[in-house]
Amino acid sequence: MKLFRNFLAAVGLSVALTPAHAGEVEVLHWWTSGGEAKAMGVLKEMMEDQGHTWKDFAVAGGGGEAAMTVLKTRAVSGNPPAAAQIKGLDIQEWAKLGFLTNLDDVASDANWDEALPPVVADTMKYEDNYVAVPINVHRVNWLWANPEVFEKVDADVPRTLDEFFTVADKLKEADVIPLAHGGQAWQDATVFEAVALAVLGPKDFEAAFVNHDMDVLSGEKMVEALTKFHRMRDYIDPNAVGRDWNIATQMVINGEAAMQIMGDWAKGEFTAAGLEAGKDYVCVPAPGTQDAFTFNIDSLAMFKLNNDANVKAQKDLARTILEPEFQTIFNKAKGSIPVRTDMDMSGFDSCAQASMEAFKSTSETGALVPSMAHGMSTTSAVQGQIFDVITNFFNNANADPKETAERLASAVQSAL
Ligand code: GAL
Repeated sequence: MKLFRNFLAAVGLSVALTPAHAGEVEVLHWWTSGGEAKAMGVLKEMMEDQGHTWKDFAVAGGGGEAAMTVLKTRAVSGNPPAAAQIKGLDIQEWAKLGFLTNLDDVASDANWDEALPPVVADTMKYEDNYVAVPINVHRVNWLWANPEVFEKVDADVPRTLDEFFTVADKLKEADVIPLAHGGQAWQDATVFEAVALAVLGPKDFEAAFVNHDMDVLSGEKMVEALTKFHRMRDYIDPNAVGRDWNIATQMVINGEAAMQIMGDWAKGEFTAAGLEAGKDYVCVPAPGTQDAFTFNIDSLAMFKLNNDANVKAQKDLARTILEPEFQTIFNKAKGSIPVRTDMDMSGFDSCAQASMEAFKSTSETGALVPSMAHGMSTTSAVQGQIFDVITNFFNNANADPKETAERLASAVQSAL
């Protein structure tokens, strides 16, 4: 079909095939790395196959902080895009301000309520109406490793924090960078979150980052988590400052570094480089977090529009995202797992299969926790406060963990 349309376009006949309802859909996102762009390309192509025009509104910057700033400016000036990558509790904030449209007709036609886990569906709704569509489920607590490097130093990929530090010393001695990292606030928070999950366990993790329990935020275990997190500085190279996450992933791919603690969007980079899970690279849960799952759900919130053709394009976008075909192709490229619970995982790689299994089992054990670093556990106001404390702590060689835990609690308190 696409080839045929390209041919017709070449001979000037494209209009004949463009449906009368064709509209434009402008999508704001921050998916600009190799794997991310490939995944987003799937959606673009599927929209174009339906005759619509895709207007890409990409604002680079992992974690999406820059994208959110640009979105606010556009929305305030009365010219929001049709769809924007907005996550977690922030969806409610945008809906409350009256920006988002109602997608219930699409949702009921396609039975979203049945296809989605209830906690996911609830996050996508405002006052019981769908205003956003979920795309995927990312697991954040992963460790990515280059097996050749581990072979060279005759060591196993670490399963616990103690093993991590032992192996990291060995790697350092062999002149390999143990941990690939990018010194950006959200990446610092991603590593901190993994260490905190290992030390606190899922229950206290939730108490701290979802329920904002001041005793846990400033408590002894938090001091221990901060201490261990700070120790990671010894295993990061001096050029980490400001480095993008996907450049850090490349360091693991080319063997310059041994490991990276990062969500499974990192897998999108391995996949885009043509590498195979379990053979060319290894995925294991971040040290000490085998039995837990920090989730991060990407979603597109849909804005109110007044052009009929563009409204049609927007609805087609929402419908397409939850169709099984898109869920399969997109998630294979992105590194995430489908957000529908009824999908066949047999064509996915071993990391994705492990992720789906852990997603299901941890939802029964209570060890499925929302990611703080990726805007799932709290509002962006609280998250911003935590980021500041954590990144300042990590960048200061002499910072005191006990003082920092107290600072963490009061910073969270100030944003509630
Ligand atoms: C996360 C997002 C992921 C990935 C990552 C790095 O916040 O949920 O899909 O894109 O940022 O850009």
